[in-house]
Amino acid sequence: MSAHSQWKKVTVPEIRDRKGREPVVCLTAYTSLTAVLLDENVDLLLVGDSLGMVLYGMDSTLGVTLDMMIAHGQAVMRGSRKACVIVDMPFGSYQVSPQEAYVNAARVMKEVGCAGVKLEGGVEMAETIEFLVQRGIPVLGHVGLLPQSVNTAGGFRSLGREDKEAIQIIEDAKAVEAAGAFATVIEGTVEPLAREITETVSIPTIGIAASPACDGQILVTEDLVGLFSGFKPKFVKRYAELGEAIREAGKAYADDVRAGRFPTLDQCFGVKTEQKKAG
Ligand code: KIV
Repeated sequence: MSAHSQWKKVTVPEIRDRKGREPVVCLTAYTSLTAVLLDENVDLLLVGDSLGMVLYGMDSTLGVTLDMMIAHGQAVMRGSRKACVIVDMPFGSYQVSPQEAYVNAARVMKEVGCAGVKLEGGVEMAETIEFLVQRGIPVLGHVGLLPQSVNTAGGFRSLGREDKEAIQIIEDAKAVEAAGAFATVIEGTVEPLAREITETVSIPTIGIAASPACDGQILVTEDLVGLFSGFKPKFVKRYAELGEAIREAGKAYADDVRAGRFPTLDQCFGVKTEQKKAG
């Protein structure tokens, strides 16, 4: 029996059944430490491909590989006892064909031991989502702003102001639902559109830069705790300023080392009490 096996994990069907009952609380986690710290208070931990930008300093998520997602997924699983862990499929790992998507998603499921995968896209990805779900791989959808399509979209902006765009995103959400996704992320849409999608589809919607009406919410943890960048997007609420705290701790340490205040004999091994007293 593993150390974690006495804990009951939140399951994919439990998340799906939350629709209209109880909010689904989600955050991203990329490391074991973050998973340990967040696990008891969230329902779902997403190992998002945003880790490419947040942890690796990439300009976009496009450079993230399957191996990176698997390594970080394994780390999060080691730190998580209760939360439903979902791993993002990185750019290029699922778009070629449903068959190739299955091979890659099955590798993630086997090597990570997570509860499911997330992939971006609506109508164009419905066949792939159905293929995976019918073969035992739970899928979390992702519609609206799709960071992996930043190059075709020409940058990041909130979507759905114009009717044509809004109708397309509603169709995307419906397609993801019909394909069997257990829930879908809605990212970066105008508020009334996310609200309308939430009222339209029978699966939970997980909003980011979307609407309070969504069935659940997700944020990138590093944004929430002030670790990622000085810039705070409108949709983020800061609950801590850990970046500033780390900067200040680093400076205080550097000042102490330079001034000979660290280490003191208190921080050394094999020092006799009399020596400590003598300084
Ligand atoms: O990659 C990610 O972290 C995500 C969430 C922001 C939804 O897709």
